[in-house]
Amino acid sequence: MNPVLDIEIMRKRHLRRVMPIEEVVYPRPWSIGVFTAELDLVKYGERYYIVGTIDDCLVGYAGILFTPDDAHVTNIAVDPDWQRRGIATELLLELCWKARERSCQGMSLEVRASNTAARALYARFGFAPAGVRRKYYEGVEDAIIMWCHDLGSPDHVHRLRAIEDERRLAVKGTAQ
Ligand SMILES: CC(C)(COP(=O)(O)OP(=O)(O)OC[C@H]1O[C@@H](n2cnc3c(N)ncnc32)[C@H](O)[C@@H]1OP(=O)(O)O)[C@@H](O)C(=O)NCCC(=O)NCCS
Repeated sequence: MNPVLDIEIMRKRHLRRVMPIEEVVYPRPWSIGVFTAELDLVKYGERYYIVGTIDDCLVGYAGILFTPDDAHVTNIAVDPDWQRRGIATELLLELCWKARERSCQGMSLEVRASNTAARALYARFGFAPAGVRRKYYEGVEDAIIMWCHDLGSPDHVHRLRAIEDERRLAVKGTAQ
């Protein structure tokens, strides 16, 4: 039977299961204090964080911050044991739908130049390279700034629907 991905709003109680993933996937992981500070901003409508679970196993998480007109992806990560099964795709779909619901016109993010996996994921969602922050990471690696400028357009809805049509996972409980 296909696994079912359950997407829900991230709570502080999730952090003990988020942190081991954060610490294994990033060279410079966020501390629990950073996550807590981010979650504190959710109640003001300034942030939106979600987690994905499969059979009660927390497999990934993601979040955005809101500016007056746009959204910015702050974090997206999937447990290495669960990667390449479409989980990040589902999390990013949820972030895009939420940003549209909040009338965001665009969405941006920063990604390590060497992170081909994430760059391919973002490209599928219509993010295109828009600039480079040289030596942004550890003073060594460039950050590629990617933008999706047509988030509010009908074309982008078609793009999201097309991604949903190809989904490999059953999904329930989206957080919206
Ligand atoms: C980037 C990341 C979130 C992708 O998660 P995931 O659940 O494996 O992604 P998906 O299964 O939804 O993959 C979607 C697409 O992204 C691309 N992709 C994902 N992993 C890839 C890899 N290892 N190599 C190449 N492309 C990859 C592919 O285009 C893939 O589609 P496909 O499987 O049909 O080819 C995951 O690799 C991760 O947690 N990396 C560490 C944290 C990180 O770098 N986050 C991004 C910070 S900017």
